[in-house]
Amino acid sequence: MKIIQITDLHIDKENEFPYDIDVRNNFKRILRAARQIKVDHLVVSGDLCCDEGDEEIYIWIREQLDLCRIPYDIIGGNHDDTVMMANTFQLQHLLIDDEMYFAKKIGKATCIFLDSAKGFHSDDQLKWLKRQLNNASEEIIIFTHHPPVIAGVPFMDNKYPLQNIPEIQKVLFSHRGFIHIYCGHYHVEKTIQINNVLIQITPSCFFQIDQNEDDFKVDHHSIAYRLIDLSNNSLKSTVKYFRGSRK
Ligand SMILES: [Fe+2]
Repeated sequence: MKIIQITDLHIDKENEFPYDIDVRNNFKRILRAARQIKVDHLVVSGDLCCDEGDEEIYIWIREQLDLCRIPYDIIGGNHDDTVMMANTFQLQHLLIDDEMYFAKKIGKATCIFLDSAKGFHSDDQLKWLKRQLNNASEEIIIFTHHPPVIAGVPFMDNKYPLQNIPEIQKVLFSHRGFIHIYCGHYHVEKTIQINNVLIQITPSCFFQIDQNEDDFKVDHHSIAYRLIDLSNNSLKSTVKYFRGSRK
C-alpha cells in the first residue's frame, strides 16, 4: 500500500503565474509521477487555491485528480474555503458545521484527516480526534495542513503558525500509541519528533521558504511529493523533488 501526499498546490486562475511559477503544470507533473509509480492513494493536504477558495480552480483540480484514476482525499488549508471545496468535490456529507474532518482505513492504517483551514481546529474537532485516537488499533496516520508545533522556521512560526497548538498537542500527547503526522503549510521539508508524535512537513508544489530567515524569502523552486510506503508491515516515507516549472 503506497500513498502519495501532495501539499500546497496554490493553483491560480487560468493563465495566472504567481511569482512567475506555472503552478498548474507543477501539479500536473506531480500527478504524472504518481501515476508512473502506481500508488494506491493520493492525499492533497491543503492550500489547493493560491489565495482564497475559488470554484473554477476547485473544478480544474478535481478534473486533474479524476483523470488520474487513483482514489484520493483532500483537506483544506488556510487559502481554501472548506465549504466551497466540499461542495465542488461533492463531499458535503463530510462537513461538520463549516469544517471537514473524517477518518478511514487505508490498508492497515487508520488515517485521520483534520481541518485547520481557519488556522485552528475547533474544540468539537479536537474532541472528535480524541475519540478517533482512542478507537484506533493499528498504525495511526494524521493528515493535516498546519504542523501542530512551532517548527523552527522563523517566518512561518512568527506569522502563520497553527493558533491552538497547546490544545491539539494535549490530545496527541495523551494518546498511548505512536502517531505519524503528515502536514504542509510551511513550504519546507522538515521532520520533528516530540514524545509519541512524529511530525513530517512535506514541501510545497509551489516554492520552498528559507528556513533561517525572519523575513519572507524563497529558498528554491523545486517542488516535491511525499511517498508513504506501508508495505511489509512497516511505514517508510520519502520526499522526491522535481524541478519546478517557471512561466
Ligand atoms: Fe498554508
